[in-house]
Amino acid sequence: MADRTSNKRKTVKKVTLQASAKVSLRKTSKSPPSRKVREKGGAPTASDARTTSPGKHFLSDKVSHFTESVIREMTRQAMLHGAVNLAQGFPDFSAPAEIKQAAQQAVAADVNQYAITWGAKNLRNAIARQMGVWQGITVDPEKEITVCCGSTEAMISTLLAVCNTGDEVVIFEPFYENYGPDSVLSGARPKFVKLRPPTTDGGEWTFDEKELRRAFDKHTKAIILNTPNNPTGKVFTRRELELIRDLCVEFDVLAITDEIYEHILYEGTEHISMVSLEGMRERTVTINGMSKTYSVTGWRVGWAVAPEKITNAIRKVHDFLTVGAPAPLQEAGAAALSMPAEYYLNLAKGYRVRRDHLMPALTEAGFQCFRPRGAYYVMTDISAFGFKDDVSFAKYLVQEIRVACVPGSSFYRDPRDGAKQVRFAFCKKPETLDEAARRLAKLAR
Ligand SMILES: Cc1ncc(COP(=O)(O)O)c(C=O)c1O
Repeated sequence: MADRTSNKRKTVKKVTLQASAKVSLRKTSKSPPSRKVREKGGAPTASDARTTSPGKHFLSDKVSHFTESVIREMTRQAMLHGAVNLAQGFPDFSAPAEIKQAAQQAVAADVNQYAITWGAKNLRNAIARQMGVWQGITVDPEKEITVCCGSTEAMISTLLAVCNTGDEVVIFEPFYENYGPDSVLSGARPKFVKLRPPTTDGGEWTFDEKELRRAFDKHTKAIILNTPNNPTGKVFTRRELELIRDLCVEFDVLAITDEIYEHILYEGTEHISMVSLEGMRERTVTINGMSKTYSVTGWRVGWAVAPEKITNAIRKVHDFLTVGAPAPLQEAGAAALSMPAEYYLNLAKGYRVRRDHLMPALTEAGFQCFRPRGAYYVMTDISAFGFKDDVSFAKYLVQEIRVACVPGSSFYRDPRDGAKQVRFAFCKKPETLDEAARRLAKLAR
């Protein structure tokens, strides 16, 4: 396998970045903003009165610890520099015609007012039916499903519904960047457990069982599990899930699983939902959505499936946060979930072709690729390029090579852990991947 074979040392001439073009990738404002003071003296004006804050700072302490989303920032940088955007995980190809038609028909039929706050009946029924088909789980669509504005909202609504201040939430890292801020917003403290990159060609990302056990204690409220995983492409095995299940049961912990890449699997890997494991039905919240499976990331339709009591709490948070997800697009969601089994096979096949299109180009250019088993990203090691860190490399790549990637540090609590990694998304048209490959080849010269 060619995954990790191209370790040839490559020296890339570094460029001096124009000050005006510098990218601010890790903007933090650790301390609250200081009070505005009049620098030049004189009496305060009405405008001063509006813009100064005599005794208070107006920002939440929670938010002051957040970094701007690096992934979304990289998309803006890609636009600025005319780069091929392999940073953010959205397809640049069309969504399936049947689904678009279903949305158009729903709008034309005047499904244009609020849906039931926890989701249109048709969509909830379709979700329940498909959970039965795919995972063998019986779900009550009336009591156990909340449709949200994307799985992003399903995750934050769930955390707000279950966490109290002082609770801890276990998260594997590298992690999808929303999970950290989500935990903080809900008052919980994230506790990270490392996924270690493969050490052999075509190997797996693994975790240390002892380290995972150490992360669990009486303060642990939940573990967030994302399988198939962004950014690593790891698909958790049954054995690993059972190990996590045993800890959840022993420490009375909830599993919140993000399964939005459920259908994007390679090489015969199997997606196993945590909720299907014995002992987990009553302690799992399963999160999923339309974005990735149906290539409609802009529609903002996702859902959380949970036992009735937890669903009641999630529904209240969801109602007060957003009232509901877009009504006509929920109807289209019901149509999407009725696609034949062949659709999902072709989806996975299409992504496998894209993966196998991009990976050789990356390897040729000097990246060490960690072959993904699922999802549509490839994590790479950039040691061969000799850059100071992932951020300076990503800046160079977007500005000079004009390909956007995501610096690895944005997936870790400690940026140093991702300093030698960057992630590429391959949910793109063949011609986009061709153009990226052409540009990336310049790195090897
Ligand atoms: C693991 C993971 N969860 C959630 C999301 C966002 O999903 P949605 O569009 O349903 O909010 C993403 C998007 O990239 C993701 O990678």
